Amino acid sequence: MASQKKKTKKKPLKKEFTRSISKYALYEEAVQCPDWHTTHFPRFHEWILGKGKVPRRLREDFCGTARISCEWVKSHKDRRAVGLDLDPEPLAYAEQENLSSLTSSERERIELRQQDVMVPTQDKFDLVATCNFSFFIFKERKLVIDYFKAVHASLDKKGTVFLEMAGGEGMIERMEESRAFRMRGFGKFKYVWEQHQFDPISCVSDYSIHFQQPNRRWMKDVFTYHWRIWGIREVREMLLDAGFKRTVVFWETLDKNGRGTGDYVPAETGDHAHAWIAYVVGVKE
Ligand SMILES: C[S@@+](CC[C@H](N)C(=O)[O-])C[C@H]1O[C@@H](n2cnc3c(N)ncnc32)[C@H](O)[C@@H]1O
Repeated sequence: MASQKKKTKKKPLKKEFTRSISKYALYEEAVQCPDWHTTHFPRFHEWILGKGKVPRRLREDFCGTARISCEWVKSHKDRRAVGLDLDPEPLAYAEQENLSSLTSSERERIELRQQDVMVPTQDKFDLVATCNFSFFIFKERKLVIDYFKAVHASLDKKGTVFLEMAGGEGMIERMEESRAFRMRGFGKFKYVWEQHQFDPISCVSDYSIHFQQPNRRWMKDVFTYHWRIWGIREVREMLLDAGFKRTVVFWETLDKNGRGTGDYVPAETGDHAHAWIAYVVGVKE
């Protein structure tokens, strides 16, 4: 016998407001802090080279959407920036979303180039910034040294290269860490950082970034990384091998409870942190 269940009119599904969003917008919101870099790198540069040695010309290597370059030209009328990246997609996003909101004066002082960082630039820079551990894509010592040589050739006599590095057990253990963010016009989203199995023989590990959108749909493996986890000591040695005269390490200070303060000072020894971020600087002269 056919079911006598009364047919009810189906309610239309509640329309969820989910405007499509670029993965780069989510990345910028969850991962980047460009004003920290544009404030601190010049201070560290001046500390290393002496008072009055103010860097004006920045090259942002592996620039992606060029947030640091944009912040750099916004922060002072004499600052100029060139961003290098191989991938045309983030560069196009940068042009459309980030450079378009600059004033004409700021726009004149920034240039993005689809270019391999392994090739030295003709123009010379006061400071090269390599953030978010990007040079970890070079897994062989020779490649890293070749990259450092290319940077060395692109720096002014008084130039510095700032390498943002991460390490410690916390960087190589298998784990997943999630954080919630809210973005105007989009809503609440979740950022997940996943660390896969580390190989102690090659010192290589895989990492992924996932996002959960306000409608709870997942965007999985939006960004993936295959990185060699280099140590600070070997990176300092490679900088010297590439021709840098000296190196300086900026290490995070601790409060009285042993927690990181967010302040960095030059250091020759560091605490055995579970996970750390540090800045290794190569000084050309
Ligand atoms: C981890 S993202 C860095 C994004 C951004 N700089 C940041 O700090 O978050 C790495 C970027 O490096 C770029 N890249 C990889 N190899 C490169 C190379 N040899 N030359 C220039 N860019 C490269 C990729 O296209 C990618 O956009």
